Amino acid sequence: MAVKIEIENLTKIFGRYPKKVLKKLQKGMTKEEVLEKTGHAVGVNNVSFQVNEGEMFVIMGLSGSGKSTLIRCLNLLNKPTNGKILFEGKDIVQFNKKELQSFRQNHIAMVFQHFGLFGHMTVLENVAYGLEVKGMLKEERLKIANDTLETVGLGGWGDKMPHELSGGMQQRVGLARALANDPDILLMDEPFSALDPLIRRDMQLELLDIQAKLKKTIIFITHDVNEAFKLGDRVAVMKDGQVEQIGTPEEILTEPANEYIEDFIQDIDRSKILQAKHVMFKPSALLFNKDGLKVAVKEMKAHGISSIFVVNKERILQGIITIDDVIHAIKENKKLEEIIKKDYCTTDEETYVQELIPMATEAKYPIAVVDEKEKLSGIIVRTSVLSGLVS
Ligand SMILES: Nc1ncnc2c1ncn2[C@@H]1O[C@H](COP(=O)(O)OP(=O)(O)OP(=O)(O)O)[C@@H](O)[C@H]1O
Ligand SMILES: [Mg+2]
Repeated sequence: MAVKIEIENLTKIFGRYPKKVLKKLQKGMTKEEVLEKTGHAVGVNNVSFQVNEGEMFVIMGLSGSGKSTLIRCLNLLNKPTNGKILFEGKDIVQFNKKELQSFRQNHIAMVFQHFGLFGHMTVLENVAYGLEVKGMLKEERLKIANDTLETVGLGGWGDKMPHELSGGMQQRVGLARALANDPDILLMDEPFSALDPLIRRDMQLELLDIQAKLKKTIIFITHDVNEAFKLGDRVAVMKDGQVEQIGTPEEILTEPANEYIEDFIQDIDRSKILQAKHVMFKPSALLFNKDGLKVAVKEMKAHGISSIFVVNKERILQGIITIDDVIHAIKENKKLEEIIKKDYCTTDEETYVQELIPMATEAKYPIAVVDEKEKLSGIIVRTSVLSGLVS
């Protein structure tokens, strides 16, 4: 995976003598001590991470943890006190005025929490604005703006004024304006925080849809854990200007780096984040359909299980047999094919645990995880579905 933007040891200190204060910070002074002793505010403290091309990277943290300060460094709305921000191998912190202007016009765009639309311009003009600044001809920019409005589900609304639109729609305009420039990187600072919960949920899904189509590199800020885990390919958790942990939602859920993170994820609804692939076992005990019933008994005994899945040599699932049936069959000289059962449940790896719960509670046997060719990749037992829900 190609790295799109790389942040190295980034620090931002607010106040009159940031460079002087930086030294104290580097010697180990805390954010709190810095404020107390020098009156300077540490916004971001020695943060490093990389964002990959096409990734949705979410930065999450409580109010004041430094999220906005960090994201505003990425387009140099904040000038970092220290550190590098590498884009296509170049440190944007060192850009001159012209390079910076070109970077902002062509490579990066931002969506703000309070939309930031121009009230005196129509929706279409708002979306076309960045293209106009770039010097694009009217006909072309209006065409792009119209197409982008389509993309965000606002086709036909171009002639309206922003105030005639609901909050959710205004933020779609904000998104369209950012997308119209076709930026490499999209910065979104709590874009949905000002919206009603239902609208917010729609917008989250919409963003995921748009992202599936456009595959932008997105850096998305939120203080809502559920939003972070729903949207993020990876999530960085910030506290006091520093990053406490970076990982996929599953990594953070299953291996929280410290107590702070543990507290943070307590309220998470795990069943909506964990998928079948996260709670399944690799099938250690399997019966191949060429094996006989004696082998079946041996396998079940060796693994302490009362039923076993039967597969062919390509590991395509054929059915399941139970120990009781096998014992009877041996006594009555029956064959494996005669006792093989098909009344098991299957699922695929991507299914959310939430959807497996009813299945797991009803199912007589473990759930088989299969691909589209019915090839068995894992087994889910009831306890792993239900125990996966608590930390
Ligand atoms: N322009 C500024 N001047 C002085 N201090 C600032 C400035 N901007 C931010 N700070 C300080 O930097 C720290 C981080 O603030 P920031 O706005 O980045 O937090 P945040 O995580 O975005 O919070 P929120 O969730 O409330 O938006 C805070 O201590 C804040 O007071
Ligand atoms: Mg903020």
